[in-house]
Amino acid sequence: MSNLAAKIKDHSAHVGVIGLGYVGLPLAVEFAHAGFNVTGIDVQQSKVDILNTGESYIQDIPTDVLKPLVKAGKIKATTDFSVIADLDTINICVPTPLRKTKDPDMSFIDSAAREITQRLHPGTLITLESTTYPGTTHEMLLPMFEESGLKVGKDFFLCFSPERVDPGNPKFQTRNIPKVVGGITPACTEMGALLYSQALETVVPVGSTSVAEMVKLLENTFRMINIGLVNELAMMCQRMGINVWEVIDAAATKPFGFMPFYPGPGLGGHCIPIDPIYLSWKSKQAGIEARFIDLAQYINGQMPHFVVDRVQNALNDVSKPVKGSKVHLVGMAYKRDIDDVRESPGLDIWHLLRQRGADVTYSDPYVPTVSFDGAKMASTDLNKAAAEADCCVIVTDHVKFDYPSLIKSAKLIVDTRNALKKFDDPKIIRL
Ligand SMILES: NC(=O)c1ccc[n+]([C@@H]2O[C@H](COP(=O)([O-])OP(=O)(O)OC[C@H]3O[C@@H](n4cnc5c(N)ncnc54)[C@H](O)[C@@H]3O)[C@@H](O)[C@H]2O)c1
Repeated sequence: MSNLAAKIKDHSAHVGVIGLGYVGLPLAVEFAHAGFNVTGIDVQQSKVDILNTGESYIQDIPTDVLKPLVKAGKIKATTDFSVIADLDTINICVPTPLRKTKDPDMSFIDSAAREITQRLHPGTLITLESTTYPGTTHEMLLPMFEESGLKVGKDFFLCFSPERVDPGNPKFQTRNIPKVVGGITPACTEMGALLYSQALETVVPVGSTSVAEMVKLLENTFRMINIGLVNELAMMCQRMGINVWEVIDAAATKPFGFMPFYPGPGLGGHCIPIDPIYLSWKSKQAGIEARFIDLAQYINGQMPHFVVDRVQNALNDVSKPVKGSKVHLVGMAYKRDIDDVRESPGLDIWHLLRQRGADVTYSDPYVPTVSFDGAKMASTDLNKAAAEADCCVIVTDHVKFDYPSLIKSAKLIVDTRNALKKFDDPKIIRL
């Protein structure tokens, strides 16, 4: 047995996580729970400082879970990359956004990999977790690490393992979501699987890094396209006077061959709106246009406009022009019960309503302030703002909202999430 495998098995391996966000911090916590000493590296000094006090800035990791691990010295954080020289394993969990041109922005992975390259030493396992296009680990990372003169599968081990965490999901978290892992060589896959199996419940080895990269893109593209389908269905149903929510609920009673997806105000978050574009970008290079992705992207991108049209029509029906009307957005996070506003459709709806001359406010218990397009807004009291507004729009169906009070206070409500399913009132306009 190699020295590294022995260290992983007896949990004496020094584990490193680069990028301590929604993905990296929960992973660091699971490794620490398994008994490893974990060092997290992040470029943001403020995050590192907060983490080293034991306070959590990630909603899914309560401070009372993190603090004992920090106090016991099981988790430390630093901005100093020289610690890489002491690490046995490194998981890279840095962002993979899009550039303004809608091309993959690989600069975060590139910069983390350069820091590793300078300090790569024999007996290291490196695993990329950031979502990316198929081929990244093999085509981009492997040549960088081999510059060190070390041989993959022998001197060091390189894997890709997609992160599938679903922030705010109380049932499935990092520990019990099966972990797919593929290595450059069979020895790499084995080493990657060995590490994860110490801390996570189920490990699923696959034949290559590219398969593992494609798994994540299939999962998120599947979601994006199916959401596009039901969003299109919602637009059709609106024209035909059919309640789309009732249609989906009834279809979901079929015990086989159907999986319900729901329409909404548009896609949000760091995954579903972005990951399929990584795939279509790579697929174009391989000579294949990703037509399903392009179409779903177009339809999903229309949803904020569709919502704003519904608001304008609802106001017209009560003889109020949208220009000068007060519109209150109920929720700003991109999905229920979380604090993340990245790519949130609430931001687009805010922007489009302002373009049409509306006076826009919002309430979100998880999002105290929000900035977009150079403007800044602060969350306001829901009932007061709803009573003053000409129209409310439910953008995010947080469980915490008091929906009966909202119905009492509001004059008109455009409900993009079917949050008011149980209520019947002529002031409710469903998507
Ligand atoms: N958030 C999710 O729900 C989710 C789910 C599955 C997969 N992913 C993927 O995981 C990756 C990370 O996403 P996230 O949501 O955790 O992002 P995040 O923005 O919450 O965290 C990323 C962290 O990396 C740090 N960072 C940036 N560049 C760095 C560098 N060069 N060195 C060290 N640290 C650096 C940032 O400061 C930040 O703290 C992305 O590829 C994303 O697509 C995210």
